[in-house]
Amino acid sequence: MKLCTIGLGYIGLPTAIMFAKHDVNVVGVDIDPRVIDSLNRGVIHIEEPGLQEALEEVLEKGTFSSSLNVEQADVYIVAVPTPNQSDQYKSCDLSYVLSAVNRVIPYLEIGNVLIIESTISPRSMDDFIKPLVEKTGFIVGKDIHLVHCPERVLPGQILHELVNNNRIIGGITPQCTDAAADVYRTFVKGEIIKTDAKTAEMSKLMENTYRDVNIALANELTQICHELEIDALEVIKMANKHPRVQLHSPGPGVGGHCLAVDPYFIISKSPKESRIIQLSREINTSMPNIVVKHINELMKESPTNVLTLFGLTYKGNVDDTRESPAIEILAQLKEQGKYEVRCFDPHVLHPLVDINIQDALKDSSLIVILTDHDEFKTLNGKYLSGMERKRIFDTKHILNKIEEEIEYIHFGNIHQFVKKQVATI
Ligand SMILES: NC(=O)c1ccc[n+]([C@@H]2O[C@H](COP(=O)([O-])OP(=O)(O)OC[C@H]3O[C@@H](n4cnc5c(N)ncnc54)[C@H](O)[C@@H]3O)[C@@H](O)[C@H]2O)c1
Repeated sequence: MKLCTIGLGYIGLPTAIMFAKHDVNVVGVDIDPRVIDSLNRGVIHIEEPGLQEALEEVLEKGTFSSSLNVEQADVYIVAVPTPNQSDQYKSCDLSYVLSAVNRVIPYLEIGNVLIIESTISPRSMDDFIKPLVEKTGFIVGKDIHLVHCPERVLPGQILHELVNNNRIIGGITPQCTDAAADVYRTFVKGEIIKTDAKTAEMSKLMENTYRDVNIALANELTQICHELEIDALEVIKMANKHPRVQLHSPGPGVGGHCLAVDPYFIISKSPKESRIIQLSREINTSMPNIVVKHINELMKESPTNVLTLFGLTYKGNVDDTRESPAIEILAQLKEQGKYEVRCFDPHVLHPLVDINIQDALKDSSLIVILTDHDEFKTLNGKYLSGMERKRIFDTKHILNKIEEEIEYIHFGNIHQFVKKQVATI
């Protein structure tokens, strides 16, 4: 089998390499020459544990090559970005997917399997991609097997999850589904679940929407508890003792290429019916403002105007800052211009980020933890010696052990540090 992957980012590259590890002849295609140059030099351009070694293995084996140009293959996998458009409901920008499919079309032959792994809005396969392929004269389901196989790997564990996660295969016809199921059986050990394309599209979107809505509920709980002077984190712990309750954790907002993006794909297709989904987006996008308000309160009467943000990525142990609430918080603080804001993130190389923790903390009056990187969990007094005031506002509540001299503030006890008027009837 020869396979051509279009798009070599966080999803496309590990997928391409995984097939190549399993003796499939793979050519990975990207439009960005820097990506191709880097891979041809044998160096991955994204951070993902185990991926560098896996690239070296498949280059050595000769089963993987990368190119700017699509090549004839038996199977094509499209994993290009699907950002939000800047219209009223932030609908799905399908242009990258359509352009990738257009690049594949001249190479299509009868019997080929064309898989879209990019996350797309409901009905995109039926209403846009199938007509595009059929414009060429091919009949989908008979000549070409067209399928949506959404990806739900967790960055940081992609290689493990690619193999072990269940896989939803949504073909335009059952024949399409069967053909793609055979492709993924190359390495997938999880269950291969067959469905149709529109169910696959919607189920992927609802997985992320479910998480976004539940995080919004936890974030709303922190606001309610702040007002009523109750420890929100204790409340979550207690409620989760119920065998059928699993409240999520609050945080500084929701970021990344999935949770902060995908719910809008549903909203834009069905704006009148998606009320909880819209409200949840609103709550989660308001969290950076709330964090900045808390910071402003905590910085009142501080010995210096220096504060240090810990973590700029949207989640822990990755280098991905896309849609990160930490970036929004940094932007708001910079715009206010009240403080000297330093940043420390061992996963992010950026001129704004201090490489050395001591430099980042020198004369600082407040650490604000915005990302749950493992490196932060063991933060202790010995690193904080250069701080003017040893005070931590931990929006992720991740510190393992707190020494007495450190003031530790989180969404459970913030009401003790930042007072709010209790509502009166
Ligand atoms: N990153 C994740 O954790 C994750 C998880 C599940 C699903 N997804 C979905 O997978 C898709 C890809 O996401 P990603 O994170 O891998 O994106 P990414 O931005 O990391 O990578 C996309 C790559 O596609 C390339 N590209 C763009 N247009 C192209 C074209 N026409 N031809 C060839 N290459 C092209 C870009 O240069 C880039 O290297 C998105 O729809 C995303 O929503 C991502």
